[in-house]
Amino acid sequence: MALRQSSVIAARYAAIGSRSLSTSSSRKSGAWWDGVEMGPPDPILGVTEAFKKDSNPQKINLGVGAYRDDAGKPFVLEAVTKAEEILLSKKLDKEYLGITGLAEFNKSAATLAFGSESGLLESGRVVTVQSLSGTGSLRVGSMFFKKFMPTAAIYLPAPSWGNHTPIFKHVGHEVKSYRYYDKNTCGFDAAGAMEDLNNAPEGSVIMLHACAHNPTGVDPTREDWKEMSSIIKNKKLFPFFDMAYQGFASGDLDIDAWPIRYFVEEGHCMALSQSFSKNMGLYGERVGAFTFVCSSPDEMKRVESQLKIIIRPLYSNPPVHGARIVAEIMKSPELHGLWLNEMKGMADRIITMREQLKSNLAEEGSQRNWEHITDQIGMFCFTGLTPEQVDKMKNDHSVYLTRDGRISIAGVSSTNNRYLAHAMHAVTK
Ligand SMILES: Cc1ncc(COP(=O)(O)O)c(C=O)c1O
Repeated sequence: MALRQSSVIAARYAAIGSRSLSTSSSRKSGAWWDGVEMGPPDPILGVTEAFKKDSNPQKINLGVGAYRDDAGKPFVLEAVTKAEEILLSKKLDKEYLGITGLAEFNKSAATLAFGSESGLLESGRVVTVQSLSGTGSLRVGSMFFKKFMPTAAIYLPAPSWGNHTPIFKHVGHEVKSYRYYDKNTCGFDAAGAMEDLNNAPEGSVIMLHACAHNPTGVDPTREDWKEMSSIIKNKKLFPFFDMAYQGFASGDLDIDAWPIRYFVEEGHCMALSQSFSKNMGLYGERVGAFTFVCSSPDEMKRVESQLKIIIRPLYSNPPVHGARIVAEIMKSPELHGLWLNEMKGMADRIITMREQLKSNLAEEGSQRNWEHITDQIGMFCFTGLTPEQVDKMKNDHSVYLTRDGRISIAGVSSTNNRYLAHAMHAVTK
């Protein structure tokens, strides 16, 4: 094994060496990266780029997964602004946080996910570290798995959030998938998912979207979750929950966290990634958490020490401002109440836009079954539009979405809803 590894490393260095030789002449003229190929644009951010160049006043950008109010504007929560005012008045310093972040924030994040009823948080088995939002916490998790379960394959639902695959591949994991979305029903492929999970080798890591699955908007039912939990337990698989939309799906934090709490009740150890981008609108502040539920306090201590060893050379310690905002909101009953109301308001607007879109399509005269628009949940709707239809949406109607047919309902408003329905009907007639 050691021999194989060292020959792989030697081959890699040899490749780097030959590349640098071939660029030595250009280096003389100051061009160091002649041998570097142009990479493809990010599939989601590329949609925004194309949108920006379009001069049609009716253009709509449904690519990006960030909430917009009904006027199409980014939304800063009042709870956040008020928390920031309190923080400002405290005249806090800007000293570094510790490697694992703000303790008060970590406790709040874990409480939001697991609830305060289960006794789990008092068990000493849980370690939560602050992370660079959901993406950063997934990355920390992927590095931990690579270090301590190096041969484990990561199973993603098919399809999954576009960044999942590179996050795991970049640290060298084998990425596989289990069936998830059924094109025929625009719903959950329960039979396919269960079969694939049953066939996953022992010790594999199973990525589960806790709620508001991205990109499909399709969540398993509670019965489905129970079955998945039992397969994962019996087959000795390791559940890794990604919860980027807690509260944003149903408008209720507890309902959205139900699958995680059920898995805890069933005695699973697990990893959890959390993001406060969507539910608190803290996108650019990069606020998230990574958690391991371990089997004992002793295991928790050892795991925590290794998380610190991973984080320290990666970014040293996380940013302080966003974590303070969350902690402030969580400890003030007034701000907490305000946050819950605003979060419900965002979730409700999305639900209303789904209903309006479905009825506008009917009024346009569409004969297709659009039931899935309201059956699906959360920020995204997997419309079922083909890549060719997506191209027509863009070229003929200036409506921009990813080529898998996903639309961000957050970009739909009472003003553009009718126009969107008109375009969707026109390309699917
Ligand atoms: C499923 C899923 N996980 C994680 C994230 C991470 O987001 P962020 O890094 O902004 O917290 C997202 C964002 O779109 C997501 O959809």
